[in-house]
Amino acid sequence: MPSLDGKVAIVTGAGRGIGREHSLALARAGAAVVVNDLGATLAGEGADATPAQQVVAEIEALGGRAVANGANVASFDDAEALIRQAVETFGRLDILVNNAGITRDRMLVNMTEEEWDSVVAVHLKGHFAPTRHAAAHWRERSKAGEDVRARIINTSSPSGVFGNVGQVNYGAAKAGIAGFTLIAAQELARYGVTVNCLAPNARTRMTEAAFGEIPVPEDGFDAMDPANMSPILVALCADEAQNVTGQCFFVYGGAVNVLRGWDAGELFARDERWDADDFLAQLRERFPDGLAPLGMVEQMASAGGRSARLAAG
Ligand SMILES: NC(=O)c1ccc[n+]([C@@H]2O[C@H](COP(=O)([O-])OP(=O)(O)OC[C@H]3O[C@@H](n4cnc5c(N)ncnc54)[C@H](O)[C@@H]3O)[C@@H](O)[C@H]2O)c1
Repeated sequence: MPSLDGKVAIVTGAGRGIGREHSLALARAGAAVVVNDLGATLAGEGADATPAQQVVAEIEALGGRAVANGANVASFDDAEALIRQAVETFGRLDILVNNAGITRDRMLVNMTEEEWDSVVAVHLKGHFAPTRHAAAHWRERSKAGEDVRARIINTSSPSGVFGNVGQVNYGAAKAGIAGFTLIAAQELARYGVTVNCLAPNARTRMTEAAFGEIPVPEDGFDAMDPANMSPILVALCADEAQNVTGQCFFVYGGAVNVLRGWDAGELFARDERWDADDFLAQLRERFPDGLAPLGMVEQMASAGGRSARLAAG
């Protein structure tokens, strides 16, 4: 495993699930970790300091260094205090893993304003706020002449990159995170910061709420183990990955796809403005069967045919 000795990481939503595994893996690689978790329910309600404190205790039991933080990542001020805590406790910040998340699934036609706002806030603003304050820290160090090698790993989702029915709030936020990753990667390259994102698949309370119980195989490799995401994260955090940025990694067990996002696709070219009748005729000619999204499970077939929904049976 690449050594992250001397590095300092923040993992948001690290009290459970994938974030907990990320924190343990970063600590095993040698990083000191700020374990952030609000301790909310899956719907984002309430607060509980215990999950973050437990992960801190687990890291300390491994001989690592960690401290708990209970910030709500969607609060701009809390996020600033989170970055400050890392710098004041461990002297610096090198890695920010934006992972905290909630779901409030509902069909679009029934979705409430609150269900939309809360999910978009935790995911999208919850990525922006810590990133914004961490970026200021790295810009300051870079401008002082330091050769910064910093990392941001964001968390998108198959729902955002492929589209999942019943998750218009969550999927739109997760697609936004993929776009956020692209732009942040371009803006922060000048300060030595790489920005990538994971689109994970794992057995956690989130997937079990969406798809039902996902059985653990009696023997052999458990493709839905949340710990499967973390080696990819640790690799991206290594100094040697300094030239890999702006990418989205779809991870299912041992299968990792470097996704291609929006690309130029089909070109309809003319040297003058299109006439609507002509364009419609061209569309019908080139796509006689029409055009529509495939759906998440079908899209995942092109990434190897795996999906949490299929794993749950
Ligand atoms: N499990 C999967 O298969 C899967 C798939 C795609 C994406 N994801 C994403 O991975 C990330 C981790 O999810 P998980 O499956 O481990 O779920 P989880 O519910 O086990 O963990 C999420 C953690 O985030 C914390 N949290 C929620 N709101 C917060 C806030 N405002 N501030 C700080 N902490 C907050 C929760 O307390 C919880 O401990 C999420 O962003 C999720 O959307 C998961």
